[in-house]
Amino acid sequence: MSGRPGVIAIDGPAGTGKSTVSKILAEQVGAQYLDTGAMYRAATLAVLEADVPLDDSRGIEAAVADAMIELIPIGDGRSRVYLNGVDVSGPIRTDEVTNAVSAVSAVPAVRSKLVALQRQHSEDAFVVVEGRDIGTVVFPDAEVKIFLTATPEARAQRRHAQNLAAGRDSDYDTVLASVNRRDHLDSTRTVSPLRAADDAVVVDTSELSIDEVLAALQALVHDRIGVQR
Ligand code: DC
Repeated sequence: MSGRPGVIAIDGPAGTGKSTVSKILAEQVGAQYLDTGAMYRAATLAVLEADVPLDDSRGIEAAVADAMIELIPIGDGRSRVYLNGVDVSGPIRTDEVTNAVSAVSAVPAVRSKLVALQRQHSEDAFVVVEGRDIGTVVFPDAEVKIFLTATPEARAQRRHAQNLAAGRDSDYDTVLASVNRRDHLDSTRTVSPLRAADDAVVVDTSELSIDEVLAALQALVHDRIGVQR
């Protein structure tokens, strides 16, 4: 058996269907699901609550060092996120957090704190870990590494449709600009930039439905670790 047994790393930018398929896949193969983006979002909320300006990396580092971030599984591949003992699963999804998260997640001390927490959460577990740097940094020896991608337009279209379905105001061009901005920040930061690990299987989801992406991932996992579909 090669790599860290029991870790299925799923990386890629937002809007590739990554969260949806990671949760379903975890449930299907009987693994836990770890949403590392939720941890970066909770850290960002801590920074916003402390009123630290986003260009103050020392202030960000201090605010996150003081924050207690927990991800508590509640079954069915779902979990709740706690910041200093308070359930912040809703507040971490606001636009304010989404717009600030790239700045916070670019601070090296934030990343090292959260990477340690992610490794701790996954210790001895069979786990699907979803993020941006799981196959490259957090679990470079993960048994299965998948990198989901899609064109910026396809990702913006999905996010736009989700906004409308959730009853939120949405403008496609604004969403596309925000997708491009986050891509740029996430892939050009010095620490752990978003990129596929050399040994990851890259799946382009631009033209695929969620069911098709899921089928591709199930086949891959089955091939690599023999988990029954
Ligand atoms: O997956 P998401 O959109 O909830 O992630 C929020 C942000 O967190 C995203 O802009 C990049 C950052 N992130 C990261 O830097 N590393 C990870 N492993 C996961 C997320």
